[in-house]
Amino acid sequence: MTATFSTRVLLDVGRAEDLPDGEALRITPAGAPPIAIFNVEGEFFAIDDTCTHQDASLSEGWVEGCAVECPLHTACFDLRTGAALGAPAKVPVRTHAVHVEDGVIRIAVTP
Ligand code: FES
Repeated sequence: MTATFSTRVLLDVGRAEDLPDGEALRITPAGAPPIAIFNVEGEFFAIDDTCTHQDASLSEGWVEGCAVECPLHTACFDLRTGAALGAPAKVPVRTHAVHVEDGVIRIAVTP
């Protein structure tokens, strides 16, 4: 289901039980860049999927704590803030608000 709230688009991306702890999911919403959703110990985070250094998919990276390491050149990004935590990436990724309602992961896509 897709709905528009204010300037954000809300997306239902699947059931929380289908995204196990430590796993990531990549979605490609219409009209928006790909988004990666992570389950970290039952807490869900969503960031833009494309690394700001080059063109790697962060959903294919390694999660450690609340950070993801890019699979291509090992830049790290904070899943909570999107901040680039280490070289070679210097630019943060966008974050998107995540809520779980009735077991469904819902993302408010940041414009
Ligand atoms: S593409 Fe991610 S660090 Fe280079």
